[in-house]
Amino acid sequence: MEKILVTGAGGFVGGHLVTYLQEQGYEVIGVDINAPTTEKNFRPIDIRNQEHIRELLDQIRPKFIFHAAAQTSVTESMRLPKKDVETNVLASINLALQSAEFGVKRFIFFSSGGALYGNPSELPVSEDTEIKPLSIYGTSKAATENYLNIIQSNTNLECSVLRPANIYGPGQNPFGEAGVVAIFTEKMLRGEQVTIFGNGQQSRDYIYVEDVTKAALASALGAPNTCNIGSGIETTTQNIFELIAKQTSYQLLPIYENERPGEVDRIALDYSKATAQWNWKPTVTLEEGIHRTVEWFRKQ
Ligand SMILES: NC(=O)c1ccc[n+]([C@@H]2O[C@H](COP(=O)([O-])OP(=O)(O)OC[C@H]3O[C@@H](n4cnc5c(N)ncnc54)[C@H](O)[C@@H]3O)[C@@H](O)[C@H]2O)c1
Repeated sequence: MEKILVTGAGGFVGGHLVTYLQEQGYEVIGVDINAPTTEKNFRPIDIRNQEHIRELLDQIRPKFIFHAAAQTSVTESMRLPKKDVETNVLASINLALQSAEFGVKRFIFFSSGGALYGNPSELPVSEDTEIKPLSIYGTSKAATENYLNIIQSNTNLECSVLRPANIYGPGQNPFGEAGVVAIFTEKMLRGEQVTIFGNGQQSRDYIYVEDVTKAALASALGAPNTCNIGSGIETTTQNIFELIAKQTSYQLLPIYENERPGEVDRIALDYSKATAQWNWKPTVTLEEGIHRTVEWFRKQ
């Protein structure tokens, strides 16, 4: 069996990815700072610790590394920039350099299609659109993409970069600052007040988590490349509120608060390059994805 290392395996996307890759017949080892120590295929490692990463790669020698571990909050990146850079840039570069050293074939990096392009003049954005992040988080993702280009040019390591839109689905943490579908769903099912930051007219591109895990494997098996992974559709936060309210029979009105620093106004991603390169396209509509997510949260 081919071995795969998934970083961030204790998180939302990493968790789904581990399950999907195992279903596809791979031997998967998960790494996370918060990994459950009882799971034999999980390693509780801080990716910022270079020695621990070295020991792990030496021992496992994976063919593919899916690098999903990150500081994932835009707001947190503005509050604690150093932590964001240490986790999202320095640890990522170190992991890629050591991957090259230990003969990893392909490094798959989870960048961000939502945070890289800032507020573009036209939507949906293609990969050729100017990179103009508004946050430390987006800047860190952009920097790491650039470093990976250099590492790829100077070593045998192949790199594929996913630029996902807003990912949502079962298992997303509803208690963080990011992940509006999970946060709204949890609050609505409990009958609690929901807060919208801004006037609700800011838009995002929402992509269901299973579509992202499929894109990730396609990006490992297809040509090394950098592609947007989204639906191409702009959906306002107000619209998300209404869709989830309908499926949870929620009656309260939202509270509107000031927008948070670093957040973009509008974004939607053109995914045609991922279709051409990796034969990937989204398959789960927003209505269906929200339905599955609400049903999952209802059972918890
Ligand atoms: N969720 C989204 O909407 C979205 C959109 C675009 C890109 N991404 C990217 O996809 C990846 C996965 O995101 P997610 O939604 O699963 O986030 P998540 O926060 O659920 O998971 C990230 C995981 O990384 C782990 N981690 C953080 N710092 C670590 C460290 N120093 N060492 C080891 N593990 C560490 C965390 O414990 C967490 O389990 C991230 O790189 C994120 O930037 C996510």
